[in-house]
Amino acid sequence: MPPDPGSPVGVFDSGVGGLSVLRHLWSELPHEEVIFFADQAHVPYGPRPLEQVRQFSVEITRWLLARGAKLIVVACNTASAAALHHLRQVFPETPFVGMEPAVKPAAESTRSGRVGVLATPATFQGELYASVVERFAAGVQLMTHTCPGLVAQIEAGQLDTPKTRRILEEALQPMLAAGIDTVVLGCTHYPFVIPLIEEIAGPGVRVIDPAPAIARQARRLLVERGWLSSARESRPPHPCTRFLTTGDPRKLEAQLPKLLGISASVDQINFSEPPGPA
Ligand code: DGL
Repeated sequence: MPPDPGSPVGVFDSGVGGLSVLRHLWSELPHEEVIFFADQAHVPYGPRPLEQVRQFSVEITRWLLARGAKLIVVACNTASAAALHHLRQVFPETPFVGMEPAVKPAAESTRSGRVGVLATPATFQGELYASVVERFAAGVQLMTHTCPGLVAQIEAGQLDTPKTRRILEEALQPMLAAGIDTVVLGCTHYPFVIPLIEEIAGPGVRVIDPAPAIARQARRLLVERGWLSSARESRPPHPCTRFLTTGDPRKLEAQLPKLLGISASVDQINFSEPPGPA
């Protein structure tokens, strides 16, 4: 049975990174209700085995579907690398939008032929990255870095501290010395440190965040199926978004004003409880 167009869009990430996608979903889909799920009991996903991240992703998807989600945005490159293909097989009725490092637009626009890619270890190990490189990066030199510790810094709200700067300098300086003119953000946490990346990289380097393209893709899928919410008024976004975390809800509540410019309450989810009514 097709879902009610008023059903929510489910969005998940290991943590606050998904908020960098959510802000673009809000502008692309202002009439939609959203359930935002941050698996902060397990953040970071990046150093974990792909199999484990796949299990978390299946569990979260089941949970969101039990709450009536009509489309799922995997707002996490690591979970997309580990699980997107599997999720589409296990839940064939559900449309999924996932993240992949934006190597294609970078390869199309680089003039120096050298591109930096920042992502987690699991994202670089996944087949999704290998396939993007194979399809789009012919003739382009890709320099990669996993930025150890950066996700934890962003989760802690340390967007511009000496330690965060050090992590980014270590990643970017060898790339800049080699002549990159483009940096691809292959982790949804990283857009929150774009100002710092731009400061370190300087004006000649383009930074690519794929989130706007992901939000457009989510809209396309809903339009194709006739599943766009029929609410006529554009609603102020935050009352229509329910924020959930498997971690400490107060921590996420404290992050929302800084990262999204809004205040909202956050509910805690415990996976050991079977999903009850929404
Ligand atoms: N924000 C996620 C990503 O896009 C996950 C980062 C992490 O938990 O390591 O890869």
